[in-house]
Amino acid sequence: MEVVIYPDAERVARHGAGLVEAMLKVKPGAVFGFATGRTPIALYRRLVERHRAGAVSFARTTSFNLDEYLGIPADSPQSYRSFMDREFFDYVDIERENTHLPACAEGENPQRVGPAYEEKIRAAGGIDLQILGIGHNGHIGFNEPSSSLASRTRVKTLTRRTLEDNSRLFGPGEFQPRLAITMGIATIMEARHILLLATGENKAGAVARMVEGPVSAMCPASVLQLHECVTVLVDEPAAAGLQYREYYDLANRENQALIERFGAFYADD
Ligand code: F6R
Repeated sequence: MEVVIYPDAERVARHGAGLVEAMLKVKPGAVFGFATGRTPIALYRRLVERHRAGAVSFARTTSFNLDEYLGIPADSPQSYRSFMDREFFDYVDIERENTHLPACAEGENPQRVGPAYEEKIRAAGGIDLQILGIGHNGHIGFNEPSSSLASRTRVKTLTRRTLEDNSRLFGPGEFQPRLAITMGIATIMEARHILLLATGENKAGAVARMVEGPVSAMCPASVLQLHECVTVLVDEPAAAGLQYREYYDLANRENQALIERFGAFYADD
């Protein structure tokens, strides 16, 4: 894992946006995996700015979101579809029909959504760059602790903790779904490059368990240790629990020196 620690969340977003931009240069028709939640908002804003400046285009890209609630319509303001429109899609040139979320239409069997979503990802050629946040409990997507590390896109029951964390998005008396459809852990692991962002002190424990803890279904993000190309971007507060922090800084300085000398390296080159 490449762990890069920045003084603040803004720098994390800037570096993340830079990686998306670099991917678009190499592959203008890249397939992205997008996340919702508080963390990637700054990254999306940055990408919108870069798009407005004429520096990036999403016109040829395809996207697959990690997850979607089950039981609320796509046009509800709390759906992840609405979140993506509001925070990103409405301001860039991505073709709406190329943006996908694992949504279950009214009357559809939710158990059929996962396999169909997997098929769509395969048909698009797989995900080139998957953006992830991390839950306080170590979840990625809505793969809660105890999720199979071999899981595929499916229906998941959310933990009490996740429901509490996300309750801010629902008004008093409003229906908050307890179920979601999420990409599985094995699905996420098939992405060619994974970019995980974590900011704020309440992520410090999860980040330490993900990077330095044992690989365990009880911290689903720890499975990323087994992926060959993961970039973890964190701010200082989220890095507070890392024991090898000094080493990550040293490794980054060495990597930077290599990039300055030889340019960034992509396996596709
Ligand atoms: C969102 C998702 C979740 C979030 C995680 C962190 O699509 O899949 O795993 O990334 O819950 O959420 P925030 O960024 O709100 O702390």
